[in-house]
Amino acid sequence: MFKVGIIGAGHIAEKAARTLQAMEDMTCIAIGSRSEEKALAFAGRFDIPRAYGSYAALLEDPDIDLVYIAVPHSCHFGVTRDAILAGKPCLVEKSFMLNATEAAEIIALAREKGVFVGEAIWPRYMPVREIGRKLLESGIIGEPRMVQATLAYNVSDKERIISPELGGGALLDLGVYLLNFVRMYFDAPVSQINTTCVKAPSGVDASEQVTMVLSDGTLASLDCSAWCQGGNEAVIAGTTGYLVFDDLINPKTVNVCRKRHIVEKTVAVPDQITGFEYQFRACRDAIAAGSLEPSAMPHAEILYIMHLMDRLRAEWGTA
Ligand SMILES: NC(=O)c1ccc[n+]([C@@H]2O[C@H](COP(=O)([O-])OP(=O)(O)OC[C@H]3O[C@@H](n4cnc5c(N)ncnc54)[C@H](OP(=O)(O)O)[C@@H]3O)[C@@H](O)[C@H]2O)c1
Repeated sequence: MFKVGIIGAGHIAEKAARTLQAMEDMTCIAIGSRSEEKALAFAGRFDIPRAYGSYAALLEDPDIDLVYIAVPHSCHFGVTRDAILAGKPCLVEKSFMLNATEAAEIIALAREKGVFVGEAIWPRYMPVREIGRKLLESGIIGEPRMVQATLAYNVSDKERIISPELGGGALLDLGVYLLNFVRMYFDAPVSQINTTCVKAPSGVDASEQVTMVLSDGTLASLDCSAWCQGGNEAVIAGTTGYLVFDDLINPKTVNVCRKRHIVEKTVAVPDQITGFEYQFRACRDAIAAGSLEPSAMPHAEILYIMHLMDRLRAEWGTA
């Protein structure tokens, strides 16, 4: 049984705990919170045997195989550094760090200490990625030329989204998925970016538009908002047809279409617990193989995305 410890008893930690509870090959053995009371309540809700009232106490637990770090973006660096220094393999929620400088420092430390570290950008690990890549490689839509995708959730009531101090804003929370979507299906590097952003009263990026040209001539138009609810569909258009992912992050189906929305073929994504199980299994397998990074989201790719996000935020004046 592979044993996970969760740091931060918040919203997404609950989904991770629920996922691990339903997995037969893994379990959550510990929750670490800044509050002992909160840790105990969380442990009670998900049948977790160990509840720690500090992150440091969890990091001392010798039985933990992987620490899943689910704290606000501004806290990723400190908590991950402490975990690596404690020798604990870790899976850090997206966005990996606040910026590329922090990311490079964490990756260098992990390599120096020989400790596994990965980013919990879950679509990277899910079967839909392989489904999409195979469809593209089959030539079913001809030559892919364009991506159009939206990701918009109204999460503007959340403190960690509004607050610049907690690393808020749409990009680090949602935009990161759009950039990853393009990188998951296209290998060509980004050669040009145009962007515009609307800020929230607190100064964080609320809504943004990013247009990227890849070196092979692919055009990606990406819309992102943490201030409204969107359809969150993604389309890859080719010379003879297009793929429609019914959800950018966790699609249930990928449709192959020709003209006028005629669906020629539908590929369903396999049944899942929540979709989080794939990232946990990827970490377990990488650690068992002695790797310091998951192959589905290698360190070089984390850094590439972090640099893109630095570039966008520098342009908006939100860095
Ligand atoms: N993969 C996904 O689908 C997904 C979805 C949403 C969010 N996320 C990511 O998960 C991470 C956490 O997001 P969330 O929505 O779970 O946030 P959340 O509900 O606010 O929970 C974050 C937890 O972090 C801990 N924390 C440590 N320092 C904190 C501070 N200074 N202020 C507030 N909380 C602090 C708290 O736990 P304790 O009080 O127990 O210490 C808190 O409950 C972020 O990186 C986010 O991008 C991922």
